[in-house]
Amino acid sequence: MIYCDNAATSFPKPEAVAAAMNAHLATEAVNPGRAGFDLALEAGARIDALRGDLGRFFNNPARDPDRTIFTPNATLALNLAIRGLCRPGDHVVAEVTAHNSVLRPLHMLRRRGGLTFDLAPCDSSGFVDPAGIERLITPATRMVILNHASNVTGAVQAVAEIGRLCRGRDILLLLDAAQSAGVLTVDMARDRIDVVAFTGHKGLMGPTGTGGLVLGPRAEPVAILAGGTGVRSAELFQPETLPYRLEAGTLNAVGLAGLQAGLAWVENRGPDRIAAHETGLAAEFVALCRGIAGLKVLGHGTGSAGRHLAVVSLTCAGVDPEKIGTLLDVQWGIAVRTGLHCAPLIHAALGSDPAGTVRFSFGPFSTKEQLPRLQEALTAIARGS
Ligand code: ALA
Repeated sequence: MIYCDNAATSFPKPEAVAAAMNAHLATEAVNPGRAGFDLALEAGARIDALRGDLGRFFNNPARDPDRTIFTPNATLALNLAIRGLCRPGDHVVAEVTAHNSVLRPLHMLRRRGGLTFDLAPCDSSGFVDPAGIERLITPATRMVILNHASNVTGAVQAVAEIGRLCRGRDILLLLDAAQSAGVLTVDMARDRIDVVAFTGHKGLMGPTGTGGLVLGPRAEPVAILAGGTGVRSAELFQPETLPYRLEAGTLNAVGLAGLQAGLAWVENRGPDRIAAHETGLAAEFVALCRGIAGLKVLGHGTGSAGRHLAVVSLTCAGVDPEKIGTLLDVQWGIAVRTGLHCAPLIHAALGSDPAGTVRFSFGPFSTKEQLPRLQEALTAIARGS
């Protein structure tokens, strides 16, 4: 199989990730933070160290490990941030490249009468003009939610500019870094990002079941979940202190051991080097696709070099994306994702409504040697042979 679905999850993982998870299961698989014996304390200390590592990785100006909150995925992290930070009557500005993990919580809260929201448009490559966000801001706007990089076109948004305009108006900026963490610099202090929602299993190279929030000094979400924390068990309510306020129940300790190894691998290799490798392959792939009659690459237009992650969506005249995905899989052994990619609104701007796209996404282990096979497969499919 040639794996081109790294935007869904990176695969394969570095060997160190599986090794760390195996070592955890073999030697340290006790419940962290729930008991005082040495091994439980060591397991808890390892998780707390990872909180600090992630805070530093995202340059959280709060410099407090307890402000890194673990969740099973970016979706839960975004739900905790949106529900925990928005009060009844608040207004939110998001944008149309958003994933359903942002859109659906917003719709749910609006239906329940909790908030109102507006969505800024994007251009035909998936780029959001910061002025389009600025225009939607009202006196009631509490938060801007920005998708750092589109999981459909890879378009990277102008986070620094949007951070500046939010901070100038005392609005919180929540960054969905699901696609970008590990391949793009996410610098909370420099870019005035108040909250980062991340997943562990994409660019950070960890396993599924890991993710979280990093809370800057201005973000104090209220508790949404309630349950066991291992501390102050006699209290009727969720403790106010972080991370307990936002974490209820046993953590995915084995997953976090893998995430720790994934993060170390990324830091050792360097996100810039990883990104250069991946985007170099994507640029070559785009050039090959442009030479195939009938194919249309969405986004990645001229003048946008260096402004995309290694995510390439395409359509083929007269052929359903889902059918292309099946042919790539069954006849060519190429794994891609097809359809709307859980980001339904961007497709109107791209012209890929209602069927969506065929998405190729490259990772650190993708190689140049795989590209001719992709070209051969797409040429045959576009020709109808
Ligand atoms: N959000 C992930 C994707 O884009 C799962 O495929």
